[in-house]
Amino acid sequence: MKPKMHSVAPNATQVRQRVLSGMRPTGALHLGHYHGALKNWVRLQSEYDCFYFVADWHALTTHYEDREVVEKNVYDMVIDWLAAGLDPELATIFIQSRLPEHAELFTLLSMGTPLGWLERVPTYKDQIEKLKDRDLATYGFLGYPLLQAADILIYRAGFVPVGEDQSSHVELTREVARRFNHLYGRESNFDVLAQAVLKKMSKSDAKAFEVARKSFQQDGLETALGQARALIAGCEAFGAADRERLEGYLRGTGKAILHEPQALHTEVRKLPGLDGAKMSKSYGNAIAMREEPAEVERKIKRMPTDPQRVRRTDAGDPTRCPVWQFHQVYSKADTQAWVMQGCTTAGIGCLECKQPVIDAIKKEQEPWRERAEPYLSNPKQVHWIVEVGTERARTVARETMRDVRAAMGLTY
Ligand code: TRP
Ligand code: SF4
Repeated sequence: MKPKMHSVAPNATQVRQRVLSGMRPTGALHLGHYHGALKNWVRLQSEYDCFYFVADWHALTTHYEDREVVEKNVYDMVIDWLAAGLDPELATIFIQSRLPEHAELFTLLSMGTPLGWLERVPTYKDQIEKLKDRDLATYGFLGYPLLQAADILIYRAGFVPVGEDQSSHVELTREVARRFNHLYGRESNFDVLAQAVLKKMSKSDAKAFEVARKSFQQDGLETALGQARALIAGCEAFGAADRERLEGYLRGTGKAILHEPQALHTEVRKLPGLDGAKMSKSYGNAIAMREEPAEVERKIKRMPTDPQRVRRTDAGDPTRCPVWQFHQVYSKADTQAWVMQGCTTAGIGCLECKQPVIDAIKKEQEPWRERAEPYLSNPKQVHWIVEVGTERARTVARETMRDVRAAMGLTY
């Protein structure tokens, strides 16, 4: 059941930009996860070189006392990913803790990261406020955005699909990369190395590159920058490291050892929880992706509606009703019009109104159940997918760490 490659998939001579994202394994994934993130991950896999990982260390930053929570959910979460349509042949799926390189980069980055950068991350104070029942005055919790920076930088990711709430972490990642490149990015023989890379190009392309580079550096011509970049992108003989080096040579900044990523916020219609608050297992307002159909029906039927619509004969206002938000995710325009009209004129009852939502969720779940089934009955296959993904990730992580160690003078 492999999704077809998109028509927008880049052709062979273009390098697919890397996308990286992670999710904490703290419980069965629910519809909020699917509509808020996973659906987008699936969409991205045919356009980008996607790396998706189980952020188990991250889960431990808040759940360090209950390791079973994390342990139980690691492979379950991967099954939910596969059920949603992630294709292990398109995307690289792996587990953070299997790659100690993340921890090594985290440690090295921590040496020069000012404490204030971490204390100022908005999620830091927010979460401590919100999760009052946990003691989060820990070193790991303060440091976790830097661990996230290491996760991202180690794969030289171009894009990081995250919710708005995580923007500040991507911003921190950019600052950390910039600082690192500034401190360690200059190699003494940089120009010589860049020249060696240029030899891999055809003579005429190399010459055109030099002309464009000079015109960019002397006159700041953006068009020249674009031309030079196109030449880099078009040269099939280059590896990722070659491209990084020439990019630094081109801009005169030396070698960009770590790559500044961009947050990727995609327009998503947020699905709230059953009570209208954010969907979360801990609030008891969630529907799991693999919830039984009978349970879906029961939960939706018990959903609160417009509190001012007490009797069937009272007219309601959908904007006060969480069911309406479900319709906005699940229903087409004609059904939405039917709800709007029926609710505001007391023409339909709430149970009637909920039925299309129930049907739509059950239908949405069918392919998930179908895809999950073989993995549930054969867990080895899931382990194998993670195994392959982890080794693929390791190859990239190792290469970055070699460059990082060399840049920091740790090669004795
Ligand atoms: N911190 C993210 C969260 O809590 C998960 C995460 C960890 C992540 N590392 C990442 C997301 C790297 C994107 C990129 O949801
Ligand atoms: Fe909500 Fe629908 Fe009832 Fe209106 S009719 S209050 S939108 S459930």
